Amino acid sequence: MMLLCFLVLSALDLAAWGVPTIVSRKEWGARSLTCRAQLTRPVAYVITDQIAGMECEEQNACSQKLRGLQSRSVYTKGWCDVAYNFLVGNDGRVYEGVGWTIQGMHTQGYNNVSLGLAFFGNNLGNGSSPSPTALSAAEDLIFYAIKKGHLSPRYIQPLLLKAESCLVPHQPLMPRKACPNIITRSAWGARQTHCPTMGLPAKYVVIIHTAGATCNVSMDCRIRVRDIQSYHMDTQNFCDIGYHFLVGQDGGVYEGVGWHTQGSHTYGYNDIGLGIAFIGNFVEKPPNAAALEAAQNLIHCSVVKGHLVPNYLLVGHSDVTDILSPGRALYNIIKTWPHFRQ
Ligand SMILES: *[C@@H]1O[C@H](CO)[C@@H](O)[C@H](O)[C@H]1NC(C)=O
Ligand SMILES: *[C@@H]1O[C@H](CO)[C@@H](O)[C@H](O)[C@H]1NC(C)=O
Ligand SMILES: *[C@@H]1O[C@H](CO)[C@@H](O)[C@H](O)[C@H]1NC(C)=O
Repeated sequence: MMLLCFLVLSALDLAAWGVPTIVSRKEWGARSLTCRAQLTRPVAYVITDQIAGMECEEQNACSQKLRGLQSRSVYTKGWCDVAYNFLVGNDGRVYEGVGWTIQGMHTQGYNNVSLGLAFFGNNLGNGSSPSPTALSAAEDLIFYAIKKGHLSPRYIQPLLLKAESCLVPHQPLMPRKACPNIITRSAWGARQTHCPTMGLPAKYVVIIHTAGATCNVSMDCRIRVRDIQSYHMDTQNFCDIGYHFLVGQDGGVYEGVGWHTQGSHTYGYNDIGLGIAFIGNFVEKPPNAAALEAAQNLIHCSVVKGHLVPNYLLVGHSDVTDILSPGRALYNIIKTWPHFRQ
């Protein structure tokens, strides 16, 4: 499912990211808005929900359901209006709830820092829900919200619905090369180990630098990687080399423990985050273009293979542990990469 979403997204023309079709309150026949609590924008969260009993497939029917929902919200619940900022129909339209500037009433503790989106209907027992049309409309709305400054580009979506993994901001997902050539463990002469398996797909990418010597030809890089494995196993008492993958200044991707085994790079993230280490010290000078591209191809490849969720978060080592890695110069670069979260 996740893989499918991703491929659909990347196959689309970037120019196709549409402006959502928003049905205004006036158009769906809302009673007037009496809520007053203002949102301070941009907000940092998107909260999504589904409303059972609201199935509808076209604008008239959806408008009627929405008027009913508004009445129940006001008279039964005692709220000032519907609880959501926007509602998304299976007809691909977005219906204005309390809108961009007013706080919703959907999730206690989040109402003043989030946009609340609700999908009409709850078909979770029916295979796929929300419908692809509704998901795509929600994506357009999120993209639009970021563009207009209502939503932070680094927004967080804490509660995912089934089949909702596609709701990521539309980073330019350039069609990249297929997976990079990966220099396997046997090619660099790894010692054999038996370490715990990784729970795939991973949710994070952690960018690291090894802080030691670098290498710019494959023969040297293999030696570096072997040395790092020995250091991690013999001195640090790790089960294996700590990283999932390493990237050299030769532009090569070296298999560390690989996708299927837990790393030993970051306490708390070893079984949910892919640790990608640049070989060298990148405090003063960033890695070269070949290495940066190799790492990005590896990340993309991990998503395509289904080993990394399409809406993964990318963090610097120093964001999740108290350490200088990945070095200031490298950190300044990954800050600009898709999916980066501080
Ligand atoms: C949101 O509400 C909480 C609790 O009432 C408050 O502590 C916080 O400062 C508010 N945040 C914003 C951005 O208004
Ligand atoms: C399940 O999906 C089918 C076809 O998409 C639809 O006709 C049917 O009404 C749905 N059932 C429910 C309970 O939503
Ligand atoms: C490769 O690294 C060596 C030092 O290890 C350096 O002398 C040489 O200039 C580097 N070559 C390139 C192409 O960067």
